[in-house]
Amino acid sequence: MAAESGKNWVLTVTAQTPTNIAVIKYWGKRDEDLILPINDSISVTLDPDHLCTTTSVAVSPAFIHDRMWLNGKEVSLSGGRYQNCLRELRSRASDVEDEQKGIKITKKDWEKMHVHIVSYNNFPTAAGLASSAAGLACLVFSLAKLMNVRDDHSRLSAIARQGSGSACRSLYGGFVKWIMGKEENGSDSIAVQLADEKHWDDLVIIIAVVSSRQKETSSTSGMKDTVETSMLIEHRAKEVVPKRIIQMEEAIKNRDFPAFARLTCADTICVLLIDLIKIKAFTFQDNQLRRKMESFQGTPQVAYTFDAGPNAVLISHNRKAAALLLQRLLFYFPPNPDADLNSYVIGDKTILKDAGIQNMNDIETLPPPPEIRDNNPTQKYRGDVSYFICTRPGRGPVVLTDESRSLINPETGLPK
Ligand code: DP6
Repeated sequence: MAAESGKNWVLTVTAQTPTNIAVIKYWGKRDEDLILPINDSISVTLDPDHLCTTTSVAVSPAFIHDRMWLNGKEVSLSGGRYQNCLRELRSRASDVEDEQKGIKITKKDWEKMHVHIVSYNNFPTAAGLASSAAGLACLVFSLAKLMNVRDDHSRLSAIARQGSGSACRSLYGGFVKWIMGKEENGSDSIAVQLADEKHWDDLVIIIAVVSSRQKETSSTSGMKDTVETSMLIEHRAKEVVPKRIIQMEEAIKNRDFPAFARLTCADTICVLLIDLIKIKAFTFQDNQLRRKMESFQGTPQVAYTFDAGPNAVLISHNRKAAALLLQRLLFYFPPNPDADLNSYVIGDKTILKDAGIQNMNDIETLPPPPEIRDNNPTQKYRGDVSYFICTRPGRGPVVLTDESRSLINPETGLPK
């Protein structure tokens, strides 16, 4: 196993991986075990400074079985999805040597050595904020580094895909396409990068977190139900999505916001209708808001989308549009009186400054948006939004070399 296997050494790697939000959605599987989709999808990776998973992984001859801790609690790794990822990674592992610590692990050793995985999300888990995407991508990416798996990111994406479909798109920054593939074994169902995060960096993304509780239905079961019960899903996959994928790739390439917004909103409504997902009141308020802004500004300034949860994701054309949007969001959705601004708007707070809001009083005294000024006073929805996250397109996974960022105690191999 190791040159000095008598020693209880612990070898660790820490990585950080972003979440992503689909603008053309993955909805429906053709293979539940391998997680193979019935259509291509496209997503925007979100800046990990605001939304990400950090995972530390460790290997030691002292470990007696694989273990994982998520957000401070030990969770079981016995599920088929975790097992598939671990098996794939072990089969691709290579020799690892750390001369300084006197560690040598051969390719064969990985079959019998155990790992510890400690993972932490900087946002609510399972509230429809793609935590499984960031989490599974980070697990695969960090273990691949620990085990010296030499596959490129696309090959790793095919492993992450087996943990959770949308996770495969979190292996890249910027704008990412998951190609559904044709092979039965899933070998060509991989993610590729369409453009990096710098390609279109004036987009601003504002997420309205309506509820940070766990979502009621998981994407997995929602998708299964629709594949089994809806004829529309097949029509979408075969007739609608292929055209939209081509148009969306063009829109991203040309930074054509009106086309990007039209396609994002159209695909969201399409999936919502097919699934009869919880179209929360927010969808309608949000759509109205978008239309009002559009009629005021002349061209689309904001696209909106949802994942399986009720949180709205609003993508603005640029900082100016984002500041106008945030003013309107805070006008319609003011916080409860006991909230404080620092926790009501999180992430990139510079947008708040652009919107001219420095304190809670600025929210309370926001004038009605000009597009409604002549109408009767509009209803407000105080407290309906828990908080807003301001973010932007961001980078792909990175290894964190700073030891202080590790979540694992290097002596014990247990969570810090
Ligand atoms: C609505 O990737 O969470 O966010 O593959 O069953 O784990 P599983 O589902 P998951 O589904 C994501 C669905 C979606 C759309 C998308 O991200 O493309």
